[in-house]
Amino acid sequence: MRTLIKHVLATTEPRDEVAVKGWVRTRRDSKGFSFLEVNDGSCLANLQVVVDAGTPGSDQLAHFTTGASVAIDGRLVPSPAQGQKWELRATKVELVGLADASYPLQKKGHTAEFLRTIAHLRPRSNLFGAMFRLRSRLAFAVHEFFQQRDFVYVHTPIITASDCEGAGEMFRVTTLKGNLEEKPQTDFFGRRTYLTVSGQLEGETFACALSNIYTFGPTFRAENSNTARHAAEFWMIEPEMAFCDLQGDMALGEEFVKAMARYAREHCAEDLALFAKFVDRGLPERLQFVIERPFIRVPYAEAVELLKKSGKPFEFPVDYGLNLQSEHERFLTEEHFKSPVTVYNYPREIKPFYMRLNDDGRTVTAMDVLVPGIGEVIGGSQREERLDQLLENMKSHQLKPEEYWWYVDLRRYGSVPHAGFGLGFERLLMFLTGVANIRDVIPFARTPGNADF
Ligand code: 4AD
Ligand code: MG
Repeated sequence: MRTLIKHVLATTEPRDEVAVKGWVRTRRDSKGFSFLEVNDGSCLANLQVVVDAGTPGSDQLAHFTTGASVAIDGRLVPSPAQGQKWELRATKVELVGLADASYPLQKKGHTAEFLRTIAHLRPRSNLFGAMFRLRSRLAFAVHEFFQQRDFVYVHTPIITASDCEGAGEMFRVTTLKGNLEEKPQTDFFGRRTYLTVSGQLEGETFACALSNIYTFGPTFRAENSNTARHAAEFWMIEPEMAFCDLQGDMALGEEFVKAMARYAREHCAEDLALFAKFVDRGLPERLQFVIERPFIRVPYAEAVELLKKSGKPFEFPVDYGLNLQSEHERFLTEEHFKSPVTVYNYPREIKPFYMRLNDDGRTVTAMDVLVPGIGEVIGGSQREERLDQLLENMKSHQLKPEEYWWYVDLRRYGSVPHAGFGLGFERLLMFLTGVANIRDVIPFARTPGNADF
């Protein structure tokens, strides 16, 4: 029976008959024996294997090169070497798969840019192994967070006919050939369809039945912004709560971000240490900070005033009624408040139709959570639950209520105040690891001009 290396290394007593399988990271030959460093991806650390000349299978040892896959049986004994508790004294070694000298991941460190060109092999590097183990643990933590709070997980559709955000950034889904606009009613679904930008609208229908729900799935945006924070395909977590207002929404969002930071620190310590060492030295301090400090809440109008008074030479203009750009968001969280910041009550003109209009008639109950190094990690709002006002909003956004009839119905039958938000999973991972490019926190990045692998 094979044992994963993470369990081998966590052993408390010497053991006979340990079997491991993995990939060779390095081999060093000495007179009469060889050292192998083997990694199986179960943890960051390698297992050191000592192979004496004459060990069954060792006639193949010349082929145990970097990248080759191997199976090794042996005895686990305390290691005399520095920095490791155990080593495996091989009793049998077997070459499973060759890797010749063209194997691109050699021992020396590689740049993230180079590793993107070999996205199929980069999970075998220390950095990406750590990233994707962490990603997996955090995905589990997301579910745990919501399940513990009695939220119901809803699978919202990936193919949809409605543009939730109204930004016109949707990928068309079609089986039509030739002119797509000629007869959309003859298309597969009998209408124009797209990849979803958000599960929110469908999520709201379930919140207005099951009270507290969340979605966690892929979303797609045909946004042609080639930045380090935008991907065309990304994963979003969207909770939605019935009988909840903006205050409750902000509280959940802030608690969620804190809980994820805490979880990463408690459950991914070895991998986080790698990021702290090689990617972002300030990482431990930043996590500590987010876990301990309350988030600052500031209305949009006040944030705009702060930005104007800052005297900073921003690239993009700052004025009431304009969107905050990432440089503005980062100024607020990194320089002005030096703390995570929740900006709320944005001008209605720059936000989608579904947000609830405030009594001032000018602003909507939107909120964005901004964190250092990233800017916006969460976008959410209280939803417009009043039928008349929703119809009015749709009109001013040039949307046809009949195309959203089921969404409008929620306001006809037992409408309730409700609120929710979306958290970009990749942005959260960037924040928790210090990795600066979204292409390096998702297994296979989809960005403009790039869908390889
Ligand atoms: O602010 P957004 O557009 O909000 C919504 O989609 C709402 N329907 C959510 C809701 O209220 N249920 O997106 C939410 C979050 C952003 O804060 C950001 O973290 C992430 O999704 N995001 C992206 N992440 C990566 N690449 C992109 N192109 C992203 N666009 C948004
Ligand atoms: Mg947003």
